[in-house]
Amino acid sequence: MFKETFQRYLSMIEQTLAQLPWEKDVLNQSMYYSLIGGGKRIRPVLALASAEAVGSNPESIVPAAIALELIHTYSLIHDDLPAMDNDDYRRGRLSNHKVFGEANAILAGDALLTYAFELLANPKLGQPERQLRVIREVALAAGKVGMVGGQVADVAAEGKSLTLLEIEEIHKAKTGALLTASARLGGILAGGTEDQLKALTSYAQALGLAFQIKDDILDVVGDSDTLGKPAGSDLRQNKATYVSLLGLEGAEYQLHAQIKEALSALQPFGEAASFLKELAYYIEQRKH
Ligand code: IPE
Ligand code: IPE
Ligand code: MG
Ligand code: MG
Ligand code: MG
Repeated sequence: MFKETFQRYLSMIEQTLAQLPWEKDVLNQSMYYSLIGGGKRIRPVLALASAEAVGSNPESIVPAAIALELIHTYSLIHDDLPAMDNDDYRRGRLSNHKVFGEANAILAGDALLTYAFELLANPKLGQPERQLRVIREVALAAGKVGMVGGQVADVAAEGKSLTLLEIEEIHKAKTGALLTASARLGGILAGGTEDQLKALTSYAQALGLAFQIKDDILDVVGDSDTLGKPAGSDLRQNKATYVSLLGLEGAEYQLHAQIKEALSALQPFGEAASFLKELAYYIEQRKH
């Protein structure tokens, strides 16, 4: 059932992404290159599943959910740049800047970020008040108190030994914030109650931290082919990660603790959250 539902979400997401009006110029090409043909689509999937968990048909929110994938893809393009993590591969292919050059990669990221907000503000979604709330929350999650702020802290932490609390804060900001906003986007646009939103938030906060802990683990135990991006990147860049601080076993322990917390946050939903529950296990066990 989990696989079928995941597949159902994926086909809605892939179809909507591909059907955006992509032109033939270099900017459109480089945006499209990084966006299409790879990526687990966890953020839009989380949004659709959250909409469904609060009792709504996820179909109508797909055009908003894909905005999350645009923002995420922009963050990956910039993350790979020589000035940041300096990684040449992403999603099984050359990184954006290796194909289109650094200037175009920076600009493709900029355009993906801006395009995301155009999609979120689309009048066709027909829910101006909910849209406004979502736009503000996604902006906060992507910006200085969220993803960008976390990326700044991540770069500043290179070569330093941080406390667990400090690494946790970085992970929550650079990765957790957008995942949390994704679950909330689905819940808000689908008309979830404040109690439901609270539960989704607790779930996604724990899941978001778990997601980055797992990413740190995979950087050490994974191989580049399976990951679709260079393994060992964190060590090469002297990153502060859960593994560098706690070792593999310690990181695994923290991962499991966060997954447990995510699952317990789902209790109020009962059966309606069975996909979200399976999604947490999937993230704990993922190989890429
Ligand atoms: C990688 O994200 C970067 C992190 C925030 C850990 P994903 O693991 O979701 O990457 P894709 O989208 O599947 O390529
Ligand atoms: C990236 O974290 C988080 C982002 C906001 C992009 P990483 O630098 O660990 O992500 P990967 O391992 O390159 O995908
Ligand atoms: Mg990085
Ligand atoms: Mg990176
Ligand atoms: Mg990583």
